[in-house]
Amino acid sequence: MKILITAGPTREFLDPVRFFSNRSTGKMGYAIAEAAIAAGIETKLISGPVSLSIPKKCNVEQILSAKDMLFAVLRNFPDYDGLIMTAAVADYRPVIQEKEKIKKKGKELLLKMKRTKDILSEVIKIKKERQFIMGFSAETESVIENSQKKLLQKKLDWIVVNDVSRKDIGFESDCNEVTVLSKEKMQTIPIMTKKKLAKELIKLILDPQK
Ligand code: CTP
Repeated sequence: MKILITAGPTREFLDPVRFFSNRSTGKMGYAIAEAAIAAGIETKLISGPVSLSIPKKCNVEQILSAKDMLFAVLRNFPDYDGLIMTAAVADYRPVIQEKEKIKKKGKELLLKMKRTKDILSEVIKIKKERQFIMGFSAETESVIENSQKKLLQKKLDWIVVNDVSRKDIGFESDCNEVTVLSKEKMQTIPIMTKKKLAKELIKLILDPQK
């Protein structure tokens, strides 16, 4: 089996020194890559900028923007059996990316942002029957309902639901508590380290009926 995993945040540049990003550290995606390799799965990470070391025997492609990640995923996906999309991809980017550093003037600065493409919605167009896609969902309210909508809208096999409003789990934490949704099932995995959770998710992928 060969799987592709996206991890970390993206950066959307405004000028050569400033960018929009988010709190993702990449810990969950890197832990899944490590667990996959330990289970004998050939693994490639498409990673945003994080300060983690690359797991042994893991192929990696480093990217910065949501657009870079989209192209990297579309280029690699046909060679893999599945995609696990843990990355926190920017939904908007500045309309204009200035070549020179923006100098300050005036009391306010108004920025115009533009929607980025949804990577999962693009990948689904080239997905073959034999391939699986697992998405992640970061929510702060109506967590399960909103994630169920994403599962259906993005036509995913699984979505791993994170409540990112909780301080003890999720962003920047070593632990996570998630609910895994598929069309057939809803399964809550109790709070545990991201490394342990990664092993549980790999078990689920290898034996979906369990
Ligand atoms: N995702 C993606 N492309 C984007 C944004 C998100 O493929 N441009 C993926 C994420 O990697 C994740 C899933 O979509 O696997 C859900 O991401 P999330 O941020 O929870 O939700 P969004 O789809 O961005 O929707 P919203 O921000 O409105 O909650």
